[in-house]
Amino acid sequence: MSTQLLSSKVNADSTVVCKDIWKTYGAGEAAVQALRGVSLEIQQGELRLLMGPSGSGKTTLISILSGILSPDSGECWVRGTNITALSDVEQTRFRGKYVGFVFQVFNLIPMLTIEENVCIPLLLCGVSRQEALRRAREVLDELDMKEKIGKFPAELSGGQQQRVAIARALVHSPHFIVCDEPTSFLDLHTGLKIMEQLQQLVRKNKITVIVVTHDPRIVKFADRIDQLEDGKIVYP
Ligand SMILES: Nc1ncnc2c1ncn2[C@@H]1O[C@H](COP(=O)(O)OP(=O)(O)OP(=O)(O)O)[C@@H](O)[C@H]1O
Ligand SMILES: [Mg+2]
Repeated sequence: MSTQLLSSKVNADSTVVCKDIWKTYGAGEAAVQALRGVSLEIQQGELRLLMGPSGSGKTTLISILSGILSPDSGECWVRGTNITALSDVEQTRFRGKYVGFVFQVFNLIPMLTIEENVCIPLLLCGVSRQEALRRAREVLDELDMKEKIGKFPAELSGGQQQRVAIARALVHSPHFIVCDEPTSFLDLHTGLKIMEQLQQLVRKNKITVIVVTHDPRIVKFADRIDQLEDGKIVYP
């Protein structure tokens, strides 16, 4: 399908649209078909869950949706931009500006304080250190982490570290946040609290979020759920 044609069909309310995404890792005997024709449309302000067995292609799909990985074929649009058509440099710039990431492991930098960790996406966008710190404190405050701003990651519990990771994903006001198993290392209470706070911030700021999870306890936070099996979206 031509870029022009697809562009004219993209729903103005859809932040994320992907059409017929295919991805194979490796070649020949060792080839693994991770995605086999996945199409998806996520509305602005929607909190979408992506579920499915281990190896079904969830991480591969969100990596493609967020421009970390290129598909073999198919197109992916985020806020009207065809990210599959961007060069590597343009993709990196696009991610830095419009996408936030939360991973299963928190990926915080141990020698930086909490507020410095949260500043990073802003500093990468060219915001001054002073302004970046101001905004980092604001987001940390919204996540009930005000008292911890001068601490280092090792001084926090798992749930607190995950909240710092969420603050870092939100600080540059991205349009789209991808979360890969954000609650899997957390106890029930903390996992639910994290999802609750994420949901509130998403509602308030109309951000689009996709959360990969195995965790049936967080199903109640979803506006919709997609199930991946063997590289394809399946519906009951
Ligand atoms: N870099 C890679 N090289 C080769 N194969 C890969 C690579 N990354 C993923 N795969 C394979 O692609 C398939 C999909 O992997 P993916 O990581 O997307 O699954 P997943 O649904 O996220 O699994 P999990 O729930 O265990 O995280 C799997 O069969 C996996 O082994
Ligand atoms: Mg995965």
